[in-house]
Amino acid sequence: MKFRLIHALVASSLIALSGAVAAQPIIVKFSHVVAEGTPKGQGALKFKELAEKKLPGKVQVQVFPSSQLFGDAKELEAVLLGDVQFIAPSLSKFDRFTKKLQVYDLPFMFNDLAALDKFQSGPQGQALLTEMKSKGLLGLGYWHNGMKQMSSNKDVLKRPEDIKGLKFRIQASDVLEAQFKAVGANPQKMAFAEVYQALQTGVVDGQENTYSNIYSQKFFEVQKTIAETNHGVIDYLVVTNSKWWDGLPADIKKGLSEAMAEATAYSNKLASDINEADRKKIVDAGKAKIQLLSKEDLAAWRKAMAPVWTQFEPGIGKDLIEAAQKANN
Ligand code: LMR
Repeated sequence: MKFRLIHALVASSLIALSGAVAAQPIIVKFSHVVAEGTPKGQGALKFKELAEKKLPGKVQVQVFPSSQLFGDAKELEAVLLGDVQFIAPSLSKFDRFTKKLQVYDLPFMFNDLAALDKFQSGPQGQALLTEMKSKGLLGLGYWHNGMKQMSSNKDVLKRPEDIKGLKFRIQASDVLEAQFKAVGANPQKMAFAEVYQALQTGVVDGQENTYSNIYSQKFFEVQKTIAETNHGVIDYLVVTNSKWWDGLPADIKKGLSEAMAEATAYSNKLASDINEADRKKIVDAGKAKIQLLSKEDLAAWRKAMAPVWTQFEPGIGKDLIEAAQKANN
């Protein structure tokens, strides 16, 4: 009798416990390296809002901005290990996993974000989302930041000869390394979180980035000149662990997919406005001066960097380069 009572008690507490476990929301961590006010920062917060609204009580999204949880060096490993579920590195940071994404780093490849959009929504751009699936990474969407500008601690940055011998911080990308070597600069791969201090202390002389990053990281306070080169893009691939994603219950996957699609549209609509507003804030601050370039100046940069295209074509593929080029028309 006593035994049966204990048995019943144990059984009922086990049922209660499994009920409690089942009621726990799935914790989804989204880690990124930029400030909250940037296009990516805003996109991540929108994704949280939408995912939690679509999957009430089932999913809780925790967003970690500004390299708080993982910086550049660790975030890709962390997603593969399952320590974080979503990250959105710039397309320049996938060199170790695929050469195809290098198409995005080729200097002067895309004239503007409209061309980038056209390429990404076309068949080749969409195929790149699943390019790294066999390595455990699934792309869920492209998020825009904007066009890159170059900044330095010198008074003039107008022509390729002005950058000769300068130490330039770059993202972990072989194309960007070749791009700066082509103009005689000295490129140094460095994690995003370390750039401000490196500029401030003179470990590097300059860097390339979008206005939203130059503003939110305060690079404009420790640089003298920003050359408006628009020579490349900073754009992101939101990636998740493909095994984790494939193992999600259907309703959760559906809700997260919808939230991702809506957050992508939201963030991409905001990106240009944020960069324009941050450009204005930099002008108003009166610290680094923005240097406009003539057609001839830009042609000189384009010509000096052109060999990079030929150098990386074998890894990227001629077809992909041509498809990206066509998007400018
Ligand atoms: C950089 O490292 O400069 C950028 O990729 C940072 C970012 O995520 O925008």
